[in-house]
Order: sequence, then C-alpha cells, then structure tokens
Amino acid sequence: MNQQNKEIVVSGIRATGNLHLGNYFGALKNFVKMQNDYDTMFFVADLHALTTNPDPDMLHANVRNIVAEYLAAGLDPEKATLFVQSDVPEVSEMYLLLNMHVGIGELMRTASFKDKARKQLGIKSESDDIEKEIIGTDSNKRVNAGLLTYPTLMAVDILIQKATKVPVGKDQEQHLELTRRFARRFNSFYGVELFPEPTNFNFGSAPVKVPGLDGSGKMGKSEGNCLYLIDDEKTLRKKVMRAVTDEGPKVPNQPVSPTVENLFTLMQLTSSPEVVQQYRDAYADCSIRYGDLKKQLAEDILKITLPIRERILDLQGDDATISRILRRGAEKARERAAATLNEVRHVMGIRRF
Ligand code: ADP
Ligand code: TRP
Repeated sequence: MNQQNKEIVVSGIRATGNLHLGNYFGALKNFVKMQNDYDTMFFVADLHALTTNPDPDMLHANVRNIVAEYLAAGLDPEKATLFVQSDVPEVSEMYLLLNMHVGIGELMRTASFKDKARKQLGIKSESDDIEKEIIGTDSNKRVNAGLLTYPTLMAVDILIQKATKVPVGKDQEQHLELTRRFARRFNSFYGVELFPEPTNFNFGSAPVKVPGLDGSGKMGKSEGNCLYLIDDEKTLRKKVMRAVTDEGPKVPNQPVSPTVENLFTLMQLTSSPEVVQQYRDAYADCSIRYGDLKKQLAEDILKITLPIRERILDLQGDDATISRILRRGAEKARERAAATLNEVRHVMGIRRF
C-alpha cells in the first residue's frame, strides 16, 4: 500500500466508556469514510482519559472496548493505522516540550477546561469566576494540572504526526483552533516550517453536534443521555420512547421547539430524507404524533447500530486479534512520531553530544 502522497489524518476518542451516537456521527463514521482516501491514524486516547482519574481496571477495559468498537464500525487495520495513545511514548515527551510554548491563561480560558474544572470542584453554577475557585485554599478540592494541559496533549497527538485533517465533532473545534495556534507559534518562534495547520474535516458538511434526547444540547457520556452502539434493541427503543417532547404544534407552521428539533436532528442523521420530510410536513400541518416519530426513529437507529453491536460482541472476546492490530499500529505511529520528535528536539536545542 502506498501512502506516500496521501494527506495525513489523525483523530482519537477518549477511553472513558462505550461509544455513543454522538461519537459515531461526530467522529467514527467519518473515520470509516476517510480510511480509503487518506493516510489515516486513529487512536484511543487513554492518556487524555487519565485527566478524570478513572479506575485503572476500568480504563484498561475501556481501551479494549473502544478498539473493538472502532473495528465493529468498519475501521480496517489494513487501511487505517489503529493504536493506543500511550503506546507512543514520543507523544509524552513532546507534550513536555510543547508546554513550554503554551500559556496557562489561554488554557484556563478554554471552554472544556472550565466545564471539567467545575466538575472536579463540584461547582454547579455557570459562574465565570472559577479562577479563584481553582486557586482556592481548600486542600480537598483540586483541579489537576493534566486537565489544564489537555489541549497541549491533543495538539501533540496531531502535530507529532504532521496531520492536516482531523475529523472531530463540533465540541472539539476550540481545541483544534488552539492546535493551529500552537503550530503557528512554534513555527514562528523558531523560524521553521515544521508543523502544518490542521483543520476539522467532515466531507464538506458543517461539524456535527448530536443532541441528547433529554432535551439537553449534547449527547455525551458525562451527560448520561447516550444512545450507545452497544445498546440492545429493548434498551435503545426504551430510551428513544422516553425522549422529551412538548405538547405538539397548535397552529400550522408553528416554529419547532428545541427539544423536538433535537429529535428531528437525530432523524436527519439516521432516517431517509423522505421519512424526515414526511414528519416535518406532519409537524407543519399539526397531524404529527410524537409516538410514531419516536417509533420510526428507534427503527432507523437500530438499523445502523444492531449490526455494529453484533460485531462488537464478537470482537470483545478476541484479545489476540486486538493486541495484534494494536502492536502493528503502534509501530507505525511511533515511526512517524519519533521522526517529528527528533526534529522538535533539535530545533529547541535539545541535542546529543
Ligand atoms: P464524550 O463527549 O461523550 O465524552 P469524547 O469527548 O470522547 O466523547 O468525544 C470523542 C469524539 O466524538 C470527538 O470527536 C467528539 O467531537 C465527538 N462527539 C462526542 N459527542 C458528540 C456529540 N454529541 N455530537 C457530535 N460529536 C460528538
Ligand atoms: N479531545 C478529544 C475528545 O475529547 C479526543 C482527542 C485527543 C483527539 N487527542 C486528539 C481528537 C487528537 C482528535 C485528534 O474527543
């Protein structure tokens, strides 16, 4: 296989639990589509998962599960390089080096940091003055430094492979923006052209944000509102039927409420355009029955997830296959990472005598 002239693509998903439809439509589905035309490198971000101090056995199991889910969703180790982040120790070294050019102010202003810092401190409010709380004096509560430097590590995942395209969901755009800023800053500080500036990629469409069915804005593991690829038929149907709606349209062409729009958004991702139109029309002329819409939605989601679920269950027990694939992937990822790290060390003046 000649990967020489293909653009390099990198993306990863944190090892924090099973993959859900947000991960699937925001990231994984694009991974699968891209593996044919690009030099793709997809990993499981276990180091990033450490920022929330997971149970060690759980973390290990999650890494294996996500690899199984990658394969079940259609990633082919003959086409894509599949690896675990921590199997590339060069990433950790470059993370230390790049941190010397990253400001703690810009890290503290990152939306995801503020969110997760609030969680670590157990703060519910949206108060923006969390800096004080972070520095605070209560020794039982702390925000770990790894969480602050999360974007540095993510930038390194991408820059160390010199990737130009990064398929991620909308929630990761700010991290990508930081990655570009760090790349530019490094290049200009040392007067080199070492790093390309990577961009999000979604085959020309806007970045996807899969909503939750509980009326919340985003489907996410920590939101507890996920439809998982591994959900069995009964569980998934139950979750969809419980989705939050409203009282229904009272007058023709009434604007759609955000909670119901969430259902339409999911439908747009899973059902045929004709089916979506049928329900949009039914909404517009007030004949819609949310129960029918939900049944249809569950049906169409299951068409996508059930075959994937079957393959996940098969693969989860096959440690030998998973370990073989990961060893090969790590080798390839390390090769490129080591070459970049050497350049970075040299440029920064860390040179052997
Ligand atoms: P989670 O938010 O559930 O913890 P991750 O942060 O590990 O999941 O996300 C892994 C990938 O899945 C990223 O590319 C992210 O943008 C994408 N993703 C996660 N949730 C969603 C969502 N609700 N909509 C679109 N993409 C999402
Ligand atoms: N931060 C990403 C997320 O939460 C995961 C991630 C880590 C990633 N390193 C990356 C995504 C590099 C793309 C490229 O989803």
